[in-house]
Amino acid sequence: MGRMRLVILGGGGFRVPLVHKALVGDDLVDELVLHDVDADRLEAIRRVLVGGPRLRATTDLDEALRGADFVFSAVRVGGLAGRAADEGIARAHGVVGQETVGAGGIAYGLRTVPVARRIAERIAAVAPDAWVVNFTNPAGLITEVMAERLGERVIGICDSPVGLCNRVGKALGVTGAEFDYAGLNHLGWLQAVRVDGQDLLPGLLASDRLAGFEEGRLFGAEWLRALGMVPNEYLHYYYSTRESFGGERGAFLLRQQERFYAGEVDWETTRLERESTYMAEGRERDSVEGGGYEHVALALMNALARDERTELILNVRNGSALSAVDGDAIVEVPCAVDGRGARPRPVSQLPDHAAGLARSVKAVDRLVAEGTRAAALKAFALHPLVDSVAVARDLLDAYARRHPGLEHLR
Ligand code: G6P
Ligand code: MN
Repeated sequence: MGRMRLVILGGGGFRVPLVHKALVGDDLVDELVLHDVDADRLEAIRRVLVGGPRLRATTDLDEALRGADFVFSAVRVGGLAGRAADEGIARAHGVVGQETVGAGGIAYGLRTVPVARRIAERIAAVAPDAWVVNFTNPAGLITEVMAERLGERVIGICDSPVGLCNRVGKALGVTGAEFDYAGLNHLGWLQAVRVDGQDLLPGLLASDRLAGFEEGRLFGAEWLRALGMVPNEYLHYYYSTRESFGGERGAFLLRQQERFYAGEVDWETTRLERESTYMAEGRERDSVEGGGYEHVALALMNALARDERTELILNVRNGSALSAVDGDAIVEVPCAVDGRGARPRPVSQLPDHAAGLARSVKAVDRLVAEGTRAAALKAFALHPLVDSVAVARDLLDAYARRHPGLEHLR
């Protein structure tokens, strides 16, 4: 091995050094190509990377893609300033302000879809045999849009399901369990944890060990027992909408990371500062327990490149895995991965309330992908976390005014 060329799109992104660190401890990749539209950010990140595979950085997309075996697509259209606006405008209109959920997620999707389509187009033209791992949020929607062109060569990833399963596994004191998790990205549920065919989740839900892990504390014992399953942390925005308005995370991260890109604070200090905001809430991200995008991506890349059968929770084409959504929908489910790709494994069907929610949100995603003003208006108005058509119209107008690239929605 060690013959692979990996290309990271969004190579000037703050979390690229985490991916690089994971590569250094692995001998799969011998050339890393970083692409970004911003040469200064690219240079700031390049300077942080020490050792590891041969390194190249470019702002030319086709040049970056040529000869790629793997492409990690991790772009953030509009940067953190765009995210701060997505979240802030939602909050100003009295709805949940969040990067990927509700109005903020719709705005982020509207901006990102055309860029994702163009990237998929260039990959198909220049590196048609590459495997594409999509990190770009909203990951389910963006993977689905890229799959229009790339089919099953694009696989979406997220660290939240693996983080959830790791934490539940730890609370149970088990390893090697089978996690019956399914849904859409940032909208999934863990319905069973089987060891030797026996489901240990009911016992955990009945016990006092729920306070011992993040989702147990976030949702509370009574609600988890009533549901009979453990939701992804992002379901908090749906189950506790009033308590989760937020909307300042992007602005905080923007202020923080600006200091790094301006050369005022080093990368590790900036990373630790971000991580400490999670720790303050009793949560962990940049750790094995937290899942970590880079660990999921590396495990996926190894399974594909070495043809080593692995099981991972990924965003892939549904086929017949979940009856809640159609076959072409991208869903987040446990998959069997090997050199031929990722295929959904059988999972429990979602109960009606969860299936209904997943179906509604998928319908909104599809409206976002359409990209007309009428479809965008419907997306905002029909999202379960936007409670008025008048507010939806105001949101659409505010985002279309604020974001370059959304002029056609005015
Ligand atoms: C998790 C999610 C990502 C999301 C990130 C936001 O890792 O899975 O999809 O982008 O949280 O974290 P941040 O620190 O940027 O708010
Ligand atoms: Mn995610």
